[in-house]
Amino acid sequence: MACCHYFEPTREGADAFTVEMPRVTYGRGVLDEVGERALGLGIHRAALFTDVNLLDSEHLFRARQSLTAAGIDAVVYHDVRIEPTDVSVLEAAAFFRDGHFDGLISVGGGSVMDTAKGALVYARAPADFQIYFAPPAGAGRPVPGPLKPHIACPTTSGTGSEATGLSVIRFESINTKFVLASRHLLPDEAVIDPACIDTLPTMIVASTGFDLLSHAIECYTARAYTRWPKVDKPGARPMIQGANPWSDLHAREALRIVAECLERGVADAGDREARDRLSWAAALAGFAFGNSGTHLPHALSYAVSRAARGYRPPDYPGSGTFVPHGLSVIVNAPSVFRYTAPAAPERHLEAAQCLGADTGDAGPPEAGEVVASRIIDLMRATGAPNGLAGVGLTAADADALADSAVQQQRAIGNAPAETGRDEIRGIFEDAVSYW
Ligand SMILES: [Fe+2]
Repeated sequence: MACCHYFEPTREGADAFTVEMPRVTYGRGVLDEVGERALGLGIHRAALFTDVNLLDSEHLFRARQSLTAAGIDAVVYHDVRIEPTDVSVLEAAAFFRDGHFDGLISVGGGSVMDTAKGALVYARAPADFQIYFAPPAGAGRPVPGPLKPHIACPTTSGTGSEATGLSVIRFESINTKFVLASRHLLPDEAVIDPACIDTLPTMIVASTGFDLLSHAIECYTARAYTRWPKVDKPGARPMIQGANPWSDLHAREALRIVAECLERGVADAGDREARDRLSWAAALAGFAFGNSGTHLPHALSYAVSRAARGYRPPDYPGSGTFVPHGLSVIVNAPSVFRYTAPAAPERHLEAAQCLGADTGDAGPPEAGEVVASRIIDLMRATGAPNGLAGVGLTAADADALADSAVQQQRAIGNAPAETGRDEIRGIFEDAVSYW
């Protein structure tokens, strides 16, 4: 049991948290339920979002077949950009609006599901793009109301987007990603079919696995919800509300599964049990961070993916520099947790224990090192890049990286320790190389 005093009430702090969830269906073969589930949501003409790499996939075929069998007219939209931008989301919104659809089915990874959420927002309530984003990037205006129904069907095992009201979108003009957050972005249903993971290439399992690993530790070590300000009305309570007993529950179990299954799932595509469980762990971590928010490893990751040089992992189609989201997160993570551990040492030790670290006689002073070492071992075992140097960056980049990362104020504020630009630069300097 986690230590209760982490949520000790504070004089000015929140005294409640809210849990937001889609209806969840998990199991091999459940993609075949999509049609009937869509009908249940009143969908008769659906936009079926996917990406170009999945156009000939069995997953898309099965979802489509199920929709047709239910008598639903489904039109495929595959112009989703890997790592969506304001421009690509607005194009998707125009497709959705002009097609007069009454619902949306997304079949794909985080980029597809995040594009779907963004498209539903801007189709329903067109506005200057940044309006619905939190300051300082945006105006912080709430998404004005419920969106058309959305069934999210993940085909990777990491993003957890099927379980959250969050969408990560890059602003092309400044080449930086920001998070759009609203309960209205929550899919109505998450249909999680682990059979989609059977054929996922090794490096995609590794990257998405590190994404889910970091979601879980970040939730567990985030600032407690009782240390965020009290809200004056229920609608003002943010989804990024800090660690809470609900997010704890799912984060711990997600970490236990990663401990047992990440290396197995990466090393052996035939290890069905490991891959099935990773798929479940991704959803668990989504239930957690969708209701707590992440913190520094994610806040710092966007600067890394933007600045990287000459890195592209195997198994990702295309050419040119590209750091998949999970890898851009994990290259920062050991350095971040060394920095944040003194602010919440018990939490870091518990997380390390769930992640399979030998915590032995480790006490609070060793907490950061224990969790960092365990993550580094997993990185080495799965072919992840060795820190920032592994994606073409050096200590000389730390200043520019810090200038970019410091814009992610909401996520930075969710860290257990007060963190300014100088601390962020120091974290980057210590993330250059781990072995
Ligand atoms: Fe993530």
